[in-house]
Amino acid sequence: MPSNLLRSDDQSVLVGIGDDAGVYKLSDEIAIVQTADFITPVVDDPLEFGRIAAANALSDVFTMGAEAKTALALAMRDFEHVSLEALREVMIGGAEKIKECGAVLLGGHTVDDLEMKYGLSVTGVVNPRRFWRNQGAQTGDKLILTKPLGMGIITTAAKSDMVSKVALNEAIGFMSRLNLYAMRAALPFAIRACTDITGFGLIGHALEMIRDEISYEIAYEKLPYLRAALSFASIKVAPGGAYKNRDYFKPSVKFAKTLKSEEELILFDPQTSGGLLIAVASDQAEQCLDALKKAGDEKAAIIGSVRDRGEARIVIG
Ligand code: CO
Ligand code: CO
Repeated sequence: MPSNLLRSDDQSVLVGIGDDAGVYKLSDEIAIVQTADFITPVVDDPLEFGRIAAANALSDVFTMGAEAKTALALAMRDFEHVSLEALREVMIGGAEKIKECGAVLLGGHTVDDLEMKYGLSVTGVVNPRRFWRNQGAQTGDKLILTKPLGMGIITTAAKSDMVSKVALNEAIGFMSRLNLYAMRAALPFAIRACTDITGFGLIGHALEMIRDEISYEIAYEKLPYLRAALSFASIKVAPGGAYKNRDYFKPSVKFAKTLKSEEELILFDPQTSGGLLIAVASDQAEQCLDALKKAGDEKAAIIGSVRDRGEARIVIG
């Protein structure tokens, strides 16, 4: 398809391809926010998988500072290995999360496939004059990450039964937690840019936020991550995506401090339903962080700041 067919000159398109979700203006008061995401199972339990996949899909609406309103289920069922009962459980897990954020499930579609996949198409609403984008961070802003990293490493280790029940449940808790609460808590503050951390890991998604005039400075010791993830990474138990992300994104990163290779992997670990990465005006950062923690995102942390463009797009200190 010629690339000009992917762009639109319709004046109602406020955000098109290239952000977490699209924004389309319906009137001066209301714009719809649309996105779709579906994933292969990250955990064995179908109910948990449904919750995580739904939280993951809904998140892209929250990254825009928007509320979710309606959802359609997208399911691909491996009919040889996934029973109808298991598919039903996945759907129930997803429906729980849709209901939790005050949205409704309007329908969906299931097809047969070689591998199970599930997710949602989500429509949200937002004020067309007041929504967040992934770009817009300014020099001096602080960076806040709302969930710990390392979830890709934990779920990969769990596939070989290496993870304790406690550590796996901790990761599941974070993955199924809606970014709705973080979005609502951050809404009163001067949020300059926002995205969520998913398959490209912290560094990949941070790079999507960085325009030509700025660089990000991230303090490694401030990063929230799941402790167990570091020990698995040190014995090279990590998803293939973590190594791919590292190969692809590492040239854009300058390490002001030497990290062990397992510490490095945490930066590149692909997340499912990861946290929001928020750029907030520096004089409001502490208050915003307090609000996030009060709302239940206890691992949220100020992980760095935005600087004028330096030689590297991201500096890890
Ligand atoms: Co996203
Ligand atoms: Co997405």
